[in-house]
Parts: sequence; structure tokens; C-alpha cells
Amino acid sequence: MVRDNEAESNRPDTATPQPVVAKLTRAAIFLVVTIGSGKENEAAVRALCGDLASLLRAVGFRDLEGRLSCVMAFGFDIWDRLFGVPKPKDLHPFREIRGRHHAVSTPGDILFHIRAARMDLCFELATQIMTRLGTAAAVADEVHGFSYFDERDLLGFVDGTENPVGQAASNATIIGDEDAAFAGGSYVIVQKYLHDLKAWNALSVEQQENIIGRHKLSDIEQPDAVKKPYAHNVLTSIEENGEQLEIVRDNMPFGDIGKGEFGTYFIGYARSPRRIELMLENMFVGNPPGTYDRLLDFSRAVTGSLFFVPTATFLENVAADAAATPIAAPIPKESEAPGETQPRPSPRDGSLGIGSLKKEAGHE
Ligand code: HEM
Repeated sequence: MVRDNEAESNRPDTATPQPVVAKLTRAAIFLVVTIGSGKENEAAVRALCGDLASLLRAVGFRDLEGRLSCVMAFGFDIWDRLFGVPKPKDLHPFREIRGRHHAVSTPGDILFHIRAARMDLCFELATQIMTRLGTAAAVADEVHGFSYFDERDLLGFVDGTENPVGQAASNATIIGDEDAAFAGGSYVIVQKYLHDLKAWNALSVEQQENIIGRHKLSDIEQPDAVKKPYAHNVLTSIEENGEQLEIVRDNMPFGDIGKGEFGTYFIGYARSPRRIELMLENMFVGNPPGTYDRLLDFSRAVTGSLFFVPTATFLENVAADAAATPIAAPIPKESEAPGETQPRPSPRDGSLGIGSLKKEAGHE
């Protein structure tokens, strides 16, 4: 993986990011879980943090071509319970948006974003993770995504074209010195969208293209003079001081034919959640208000959660037995003095092993 030089230079030597910027894969599992209250449940999560790399090596080694990777990310509440302070400075619960359409906020303590060339690899890793967590975790949402003809979504449009790649992708997603204690980390927002395909397919191709802002067959962007102000790619293109604020998306189609469910699982990584939130405001409220994303007349967000992605090194260094000490009681407030820091748990066994993991995990 190519990383942003600036972010890289400010990161502690040992901190290796999780595989946020991975190549697109044919299969993915998005697993959002909640963790029951109590120290023993927290201990189970802490033990998994330290073991995730070795689980990934064990499953991924069965097919190195399969490029298995996993990102483990934490919600606002569970961060406090597990790690206390310091806390990533922009971590907060997903804020619902009530505009022309509703972006709901739904429960979720931990997100596992598992990607591979083959679904069996994803499935095996998800199973192993859930076995480790046992009764500590309840699945709040589970989506098995697949790649669909030329990276299209189920609406028929190619999805992912304008994603930044290489250094630009790292620059968009990996925290640098704006939050030095968490440099190398990232934020991720997920939303599960269900499409009204009947209504969408009743539109003309031209109407659909105006909603997306690109041509359907060729995937070529519409000229600016033609683009509608409500086009998806207009409302999600945001700038600050003349610079485009980018995110990395790895959306996946999913569905259940029997239930009539056809959807897109939206997943967006960024070095600050604010830029994704701005895009969502533009989509759901409109920019200017009222000029909202017409895609939302046909796609409904049924989940919404925000997570922080610590570095792989942070995960490896979580000591399983530290849960015995009341690290997060009382729950610290955002406003607490920076001096009241929780000592970082020490490495469990001194072996990081994450370097080889990352090579095998699709970072080329
Ligand atoms: C139903 C859900 C969604 C679908 C089906 C969808 C589909 C698409 C498609 C087809 C494109 C054009 C090709 C591309 O550049 O990828 C696109 C672009 C984009 N989407 Fe979405 N999207 C969805 C939700 C979202 C959400 C929730 C966000 C952000 C909060 C978002 C952010 C973006 C961005 C930043 C672009 C690139 C815009 C550009 O620079 O041209 N999308 N999306």
C-alpha cells in the first residue's frame, strides 16, 4: 500500500495502519456487532484484538491469491469501555440527518469489514471471529456483498470510478499529525441502502443518468454544463479552500431475492468523519437545502454507524488481561484533560507479525 508521506512521517515508527486502502475485491462481509455489558465481554473483545492478526494469517494463508483482509473498527461507546482515554478526537456516535430523507443512526459497537477474492475466505474469517467473541457479541447487522458486472451497483451504474488511488487514497483516509496520538488510524461510516428497483427501472436511462451524473453504459461523467445540481456526483463533491475533500469507498451490492431486497452497502473511509458527514448533509438535506440527492427517492438508508479504525499495531498491543482493571470507569468525557491518559497496554507477546499479514491481505 502506498501511504501519504505526510501522514507517514508523523506516525510513530511502529504504527502500521489497518488495510483501509485495499484493492477492490469480488466478495466482502460487513459485520456490525454489539457487545454485552460486563468485564468478561470486554475481555473477550480485548483478546480478539490481539489475536486478529494471527486469525487472519491462518485463514488467509489457505489461499494467498485470495487477498483476505479485515478492518476492525470501534464505535464511540465501546471505545470508552475498552480503551478509555485518550480518545480519537473526532469519534462520536453517528448523527442522524432529517432532511428531505432520513439518514438513520443505528446501534453498532464494532465493525468488521472483511474482504477477499472469494466469499469462502470471508465467511471462514467471520465465523472464526464470531466464535472467539462467543456470547460477548450479538450481530446487529450482517451483509454479504458481491461484485456485480463491471463493478456496477444493482441500479446498473459503475460504482467506485472516482475513488482516489495510491498516495491520494492514503492521503484521504489516514490520520496524520492532526491527531498525533492516533496517527495511522482512520474513520469509517457505513450505511445499508435498500433500493426500490421497480421504481428505479421505470425511469428512463436519461433520468437515471441525470441522477447519478454519469452515463450508464460507458460510465463517462456528464459534462458540467449538462449535470443537474441534484446529481449524486455534484452533491458528493466537496471542497475546502479550493481543494477537493476525498474519501475512499468500497460499496458492495447485496440482495435477497426471496425477500425482494436489493441494496448497496455504503462504506466510506476518511481521515476525518466530517467530510463524509458533509456529503451526507448535501445528499439528505440538499445543497442548497431542497436540492437533495434524487437517488434517495429510490434508495432508503436502513442503518447508519460511525467507527474509528485504530492502527494494526494498536490492536496487536491490546493486552487481553487489561480488562481486569477498571479502565473505563467512570466513562471519561471528551472534555477531560489530555493529561489523564490511559497507559497504552504493552505488547502481549512481543511479536507483531502484522507486516506479513498486510502483504497477504491485499496491499499491493
Ligand atoms: C445507495 C447508495 C449509493 C449508491 C448506489 C452510490 C453510487 C455511486 C455511483 C454510481 C457513483 C459514480 C461512480 C463513482 O465515482 O463511484 C458514485 C460516486 C460517488 N459517491 Fe456514491 N453512492 C451511494 C451512496 C453514497 C454515499 C452515502 C456517499 C457519501 C456519504 C457517496 C459518495 C460518493 C462520492 C464521493 C462519489 C464520487 C463523486 C465524484 O467525485 O465524482 N455515495 N456513487
